Amino acid sequence: MYQQYQSGWIEVITGPMFAGKSEELIRRVNTLTYTKKKIMAFKPKIDDRYDKSAISSHSGMKYQGYAINDCKEILSYITDDVDVIAIDEVQFFSDEIVQICEDLANAGKRVIVAGLDLDFRGEPFGPMPQLITRAEIVTKLTAICTVCSMAATRTQRLIDGKPADIDDPTILVGAKESYEARCRKHHVVLHSGGKKR
Ligand code: TMP
Ligand code: MG
Repeated sequence: MYQQYQSGWIEVITGPMFAGKSEELIRRVNTLTYTKKKIMAFKPKIDDRYDKSAISSHSGMKYQGYAINDCKEILSYITDDVDVIAIDEVQFFSDEIVQICEDLANAGKRVIVAGLDLDFRGEPFGPMPQLITRAEIVTKLTAICTVCSMAATRTQRLIDGKPADIDDPTILVGAKESYEARCRKHHVVLHSGGKKR
């Protein structure tokens, strides 16, 4: 027997690239459009792959929102009548997003965020560990490993077709041209000097 949640909570949708995180986020907010709830959606401006401001999935789904540079900008859009806040690509925001999500949930709002749990090295990405541990509900999706077709939990970065080096910058916006979903066994990170890990 489950108890209902008090109003105000955080949901995290996470996993590697090509797992359907943005699709799941859009599905949840689309479902909520049948209620009278007021929904607002945000993403970091840096993610301009498929649309300047809409939350967008690799499969072409979109939900109109605001593209912002700094996560603090979210607060300037939120009025008392906003019930649901959806944030995509949340891994790109600074750690300040954690307290912002906490404050919004504490104010009785449903906060739904989607983001990569791991970077191309297989290391926790930005604020994600904090968000995952503070969330009431966590959904960890898997993709399909491009090598063995088993469940993929990692994201492989490929530069000119070769695994990226551990010292490469964390942020590189891209899609199929630079990234593939991989399982633990087939995820490769080069250590400087070209050695595989
Ligand atoms: P997606 O989760 O919606 O597929 O998009 C993830 C974005 O994050 C995409 O623009 C590529 C980027 N990214 C990085 O900047 N660094 C990384 O280490 C990884 C794995 C992805
Ligand atoms: Mg996405």
